[in-house]
Amino acid sequence: MARFVIKGGNRLSGEIKIAGFKNAALPLLAATLLSEEKSVISNVPEILDVRNFLEMLKDLGSEYEFSGRTVSIRTRKIFKYRPKREYVSAMRASILLLGSLLNRIGRVNLAYPGGDLIGARPIDVHLRGFKALGAKVKEGKVIQINSKGLSGANLYGESSVTGTENLIMAALAAKGKSVVKLAAQEPHIVSLCEFLRKMGADIHGIGTHTLTLRGKKKLHGASFAVIPDMIEAGSFAVMGAATNSHIALKNVRHDHLDAVYNKLWEMGVQLKTSPNLLEILPSKKPYRAARIRTGLYPNLATDLQPPFGVLASLALGKSIIHDWVFEGRFGYLYELKKMGADVNIIDPHRAEITGPVSLKGCLIDSRDIRSGITLVIAGLVARGVTTLNNVQHLDRGFEDLEGRLNAVGADIKRIN
Ligand code: EPU
Repeated sequence: MARFVIKGGNRLSGEIKIAGFKNAALPLLAATLLSEEKSVISNVPEILDVRNFLEMLKDLGSEYEFSGRTVSIRTRKIFKYRPKREYVSAMRASILLLGSLLNRIGRVNLAYPGGDLIGARPIDVHLRGFKALGAKVKEGKVIQINSKGLSGANLYGESSVTGTENLIMAALAAKGKSVVKLAAQEPHIVSLCEFLRKMGADIHGIGTHTLTLRGKKKLHGASFAVIPDMIEAGSFAVMGAATNSHIALKNVRHDHLDAVYNKLWEMGVQLKTSPNLLEILPSKKPYRAARIRTGLYPNLATDLQPPFGVLASLALGKSIIHDWVFEGRFGYLYELKKMGADVNIIDPHRAEITGPVSLKGCLIDSRDIRSGITLVIAGLVARGVTTLNNVQHLDRGFEDLEGRLNAVGADIKRIN
């Protein structure tokens, strides 16, 4: 169990480059299985989930090289239809092998994916879609899917991110036309569709809630760059504001960050944008409380709700947090309470935070990637020393987190 020892109270200053987005990179890697040819993916973040995902693909038959944040990958033949449980259970994104293996070899046996403990993670949307395409689906100790040929159908993504990604990949192996209705429209869905299009896939309606796809026998390899991580950008923006610092975030996509900018403005955070750059400026006035409500993209992502919870504890007045997506996303609030935050958890989806309080360092626990970064932010703000346990969660989603934050003035030590 790795720990961070964080000395709080430093103002940060300097530039941080935003990495490629984990939740965009992993679907692209899954989609490379749809072709026998080589694909090259650049701007891939050097994180544990990517390394595990690549090893999981290698075990199925892929050959890859990963250097300088570029993955060259080719899967001439797939030798197995049961991905190794140790990889599958290490991350949620392994669910994407359902769609990609069903597409490529018509068969997959998958253990139930692991990942963050943020609530129930049902997969009914994925399975209903596979059945509608004509696949046989059996749920027992593992998920078993077989098909002797898929046929185009109307599918419903119900705004599930990985659900929509899986249905897209499976539908591309179906004869005729499929329509994915109620599709999620996050930037990572758009980037997956654009990559598949470069591979030769016939997809229309990209970026909307209705995607029309026509199955094709063969896709070819393609090159593609992973989009910048909008969740990392949003989290670091909150970190700059919470520590009252002047930091600049490089390599941001402003068009993916409207909900973040809107909430930061509302709370009184000073920010400045120029092409690909976001600056957070120190503020002389206290921040204002706000209603922090998560939603489907382009609204505020559930993955950003926890960082905003820290900012709410520093803002004047009572903030309301309403996060409907997962019922286990308030774990970090129990840790913030230990640090002195005034928190009232109304139910698993709603909480009130009253500020401003002065957070103080103590021993706290990280439960998942997003609560982890949130508690790092809290530790940077707090008076004294914070010891944050279980930071291996952060390694799943953030590239060299302590190195990058220490370079702008944070004081974080890792203890293994
Ligand atoms: N849902 C269902 N049935 C399904 C699928 C989802 O009811 O078959 C519900 C879920 O219970 C939840 C909602 O739909 O209430 C949204 O879940 P979604 O399927 O969109 O989540 P996901 O695809 O499992 C991805 C990200 C998460 C992110 C969510 C929401 C990946 C690998 N994971 O998960 O990212 O929180 O979308 O935006 O893309 C993270 O990066 O830390 C992370 C947890």
